[in-house]
Amino acid sequence: MTELLVRLCRVEEVSGGEPVAVNVESLPPLAVYNVDGEYFVTDNTCTHGSAMLTDGFQEDATIECPFHGGAFDIRTGAATVFPC
Ligand code: FES
Repeated sequence: MTELLVRLCRVEEVSGGEPVAVNVESLPPLAVYNVDGEYFVTDNTCTHGSAMLTDGFQEDATIECPFHGGAFDIRTGAATVFPC
């Protein structure tokens, strides 16, 4: 397994409830989140369509897609609300 370390952004740029979009060459669009001082990264593109999750609504450890209201658990990346 190859380990990859990539600088995404500064922690000061990611405040709670305001996910940050990050684009890194050769990686899919990413979203960086601050959940109670812990930092998480997920794909930024919704699994249901081409919406950017960073345009959605973060509440605690949940990110709601701006298009159809589907949602994901930020800590695990798991879809939690249909149609994601
Ligand atoms: S595009 Fe995200 S829920 Fe439909």
